[in-house]
Amino acid sequence: MSEQTITVDIWRGREDGRFQTFEVPRMASQTVLDVVTYVQRNLDPGLSYRFACRVGVCGSCAMTVNGKPRWTCRTHVDKVAGDATGGRLKIQPLRNLPVIRDLAVDMAEFFEKWTQAKAHFVPTKTRDDDFQQVSPDDPQRKEATAGIECINCGVCYAGCDTVAGLASYLGPAALNRAWTLVNDVRDGGQADRLKAISGVGGCQSCHTQQTCFELCPKHLNPTAAIAGLKRATVKALIKGDL
Ligand code: SF4
Ligand code: SF4
Ligand code: FES
Repeated sequence: MSEQTITVDIWRGREDGRFQTFEVPRMASQTVLDVVTYVQRNLDPGLSYRFACRVGVCGSCAMTVNGKPRWTCRTHVDKVAGDATGGRLKIQPLRNLPVIRDLAVDMAEFFEKWTQAKAHFVPTKTRDDDFQQVSPDDPQRKEATAGIECINCGVCYAGCDTVAGLASYLGPAALNRAWTLVNDVRDGGQADRLKAISGVGGCQSCHTQQTCFELCPKHLNPTAAIAGLKRATVKALIKGDL
């Protein structure tokens, strides 16, 4: 790498692909997504990758950067390409998901697991009812609020060793969402949800080592949410509801 450029190795192809090396001009406040975009716009228009908002909202730009899953639009090159990496960037698709091509992965399985976890709101009111009021100070509402800002980026899913070893594991994001709904007093799907997340591949498979918590760009704590689900399933079991 010269002073004005950075060397970047980018994964090309599918699972049996290879790295291709590019030299990209360095810029102030440059993000990893800026680097990938530079390559696609100036060096190889065939490079496949995914992004939308560029400001940390849509969750679509996650990739593996120097070995760790990250949201690339909010990851500055300065922070990840230091002495430890020889000043280089190595960019790969997210782990634990099938590669469509280059840096784009198929997220279908990730979202399918949200469906399997019944991680969707089940209304108990109709449009003709009054709004239900829930105080922001309510302890259950606080639990829900703590996990609600997930942007579905898949970073935690890619970093989870249990997902890597157990294909049926629902994963940290789907389980985190399920926990927000377990704490939503307006929701009517609790019994089905607890059944869905307590079987094989459910919350009991989590090893609680907190990789998801360490990696989540939104600073959510799926490990704590999953611990809550474990408590909820034990309570339901004792009450004979499972
Ligand atoms: S704490 Fe649980 S969900 Fe999070 S990365 Fe580890 S096994 Fe996966
Ligand atoms: S929990 Fe965090 S890392 Fe996982 S999908 Fe949501 S925002 Fe991304
Ligand atoms: S492009 Fe939307 S979060 Fe990165």
